[in-house]
This record gives sequence, C-alpha cells and structure tokens, in this order.
Amino acid sequence: MPVVAKLNEVPSLGKKLVTVEGQEVLLVNFKGTIYAVENECPHQGAPLAGAIIKDGHLSCPRHGYRFDLGSGVCKDFPEFVLKSWPVRIEGDEIIVDLA
Ligand code: FES
Repeated sequence: MPVVAKLNEVPSLGKKLVTVEGQEVLLVNFKGTIYAVENECPHQGAPLAGAIIKDGHLSCPRHGYRFDLGSGVCKDFPEFVLKSWPVRIEGDEIIVDLA
C-alpha cells in the first residue's frame, strides 16, 4: 500500500489532494483523524478540494451537499455516496489502501 503523504502535510481541519496510481485522493484531517475520499462530488462532479470541513462532514462547494467523512453517505440526499478508502498511519506517514 502506498505512502501518499506525511502527516504534517495535512493539518487539523485541512485537506491535501494527492494522485495515487492515477486516482485523485483527497486527504482530510478532521480532529486528528485522516480520511481519504474521492475528489469528485458524486452529485455533479465538483472538486471537493474546495469543500468546507464541518462537524464530521465535507460540504461540497457547488451545491452544499454534506458528505459524512466516516461513511461517505450524503446527509442531504443519501442516494449519493462519496467513495472512500481505508487509511493507515505509520509513524508520520499516511498510507491509503486503494484496493
Ligand atoms: S456538485 Fe457537489 S453538491 Fe452538487
């Protein structure tokens, strides 16, 4: 599984967009937990790198749909689910399992 970033590159309530094996992965730090989600909003494809992080969800910059960081499920329209990948931290390295 690839190391995609260092922990200090994703500050608290911050995001970092990385490309892993041709796949854009948005790393999100919410209260010290790192999440790895797709960058493309499942509604109409807006880049979520510009999303607002609040109360455990990402709020899309285009129409404001809120996606739970843990489950990926949209709180406003649950038929939309944000893809996410398991994250492991080893020392100061963020490892994402894209399998
Ligand atoms: S494109 Fe993200 S909510 Fe519409």
